[in-house]
Amino acid sequence: MEAGANQLSAHRSGPLRGRLKPPGDKSISHRALILGLLSVGETKIEGLLEGDDVLRTAAVCRALGAGVERRGDGSWQVRGCGIGSLLAPREPLDFGNSGTGMRLMMGVVGGHAIVAAFDGDASLRKRPMRRILDPLALMGAEVLSEATGGCCPIVLKGTSEPIPIEYYPPVASAQIKSAVLLAGLNSPGRTSVIEAEASRDHTEKMLKHFGASISVEAFGPHGRKITLDGRPELHPAPVIVPADPSSAAFPLVAATIAPGSDIIIEAMMMNPLRAGLLATLLEMGADIEILDRREEGGEEVADLRVRAAALKGVDAPASRAPSMIDEYPILAVAAAFASGQTRLRGLQELRVKESDRLEAVAAGLRAAGVDCQIVGDDLIVEGRSGDVPGGGLVKTHLDHRIAMSFLCMGLASRAPMAIDDARMIATSFPAFKTLMERLGAQFA
Ligand code: S3P
Repeated sequence: MEAGANQLSAHRSGPLRGRLKPPGDKSISHRALILGLLSVGETKIEGLLEGDDVLRTAAVCRALGAGVERRGDGSWQVRGCGIGSLLAPREPLDFGNSGTGMRLMMGVVGGHAIVAAFDGDASLRKRPMRRILDPLALMGAEVLSEATGGCCPIVLKGTSEPIPIEYYPPVASAQIKSAVLLAGLNSPGRTSVIEAEASRDHTEKMLKHFGASISVEAFGPHGRKITLDGRPELHPAPVIVPADPSSAAFPLVAATIAPGSDIIIEAMMMNPLRAGLLATLLEMGADIEILDRREEGGEEVADLRVRAAALKGVDAPASRAPSMIDEYPILAVAAAFASGQTRLRGLQELRVKESDRLEAVAAGLRAAGVDCQIVGDDLIVEGRSGDVPGGGLVKTHLDHRIAMSFLCMGLASRAPMAIDDARMIATSFPAFKTLMERLGAQFA
């Protein structure tokens, strides 16, 4: 059978060697553009992820009135309009594949007296948006139309006087937290979000960096209460985007499973709320040396020296899920190479990512000859002690992380692994193939 035009396969490769700097963090890149839009004046962003998801957010910032430009030195400049002064967009806002862009921007629009239509690709059109629209409705925004199941296309009418609320998100989600806080920016009062499990804190940190008055307190054993004073004057502040740990995860696991590998991953963000994969791989016996911890642009970063290692299976608790929510597909690949069983607990949120990642990962593992089972919300992987048959074709369902995970698997499995569609890799890690090839990876 002839391979589809977008198909890509990864072949067992020699040891991976060399250095790699992962692209800028996707979460921080979206937020930097959005806070640039909401400040009056010029925000300079260095290291912005120039992936499709973030470029969509840049285009949406322009549609809402900001000037957004890439400069000759590779930095980006946002000329913002300020809170309360956004333009009503003339066209529907198209977020492509990006749930983060869409959900955060729903918060922004929800807190302004404008109407905007939200749409995206076939993957994004399946993702639940009620989790964002519900708190925004409590704040006074109105959904004028939506597709079945609270999915986009959605037309949202925001309010000029968002009601200050205290909100308990029903699931641990930085996107819900961020949407409520962004809507709360234009509220005359105080908005609080109380999360039972702490999720990534980039919105809170960046709001503070731009001059908002925001406090964070511990709440229960793992939670936090975040309170924002409405109507701050946000001042443009330079942002340096650190390397994305969710992208670094691919070379990290590839070097761990490809025998003889020894690589350096440069300047990876070490934010503890994003460090679940690192903790889990270390528990599994990965050989990762953390070098030169330092601060860059308000986040701790470090270089990682990663050498191939024999892994053992682990039981990863559900409480760790928020800190490695995007890393489960590649963690499942690591588990396939480990000895013994790995149980990844509490993966219900994986069902509503860019694809149903729980099913997509299980199907990919099976296509590679790896036994696995979904039990409730857990994934159980039977490790093959370094000997994964491979030879499968994986359906990526428009999901970049499924694509990259199974390509990494193919670098160390006996027979190659193919994916049906490599295009979505450009949403978060456009240089993935080139940078991995420089380390010695073989794709065809
Ligand atoms: C993100 C939060 C996470 C994550 C997504 C990026 C963010 O989603 O999966 O890729 O930037 O806030 P949830 O907050 O819905 O878990």
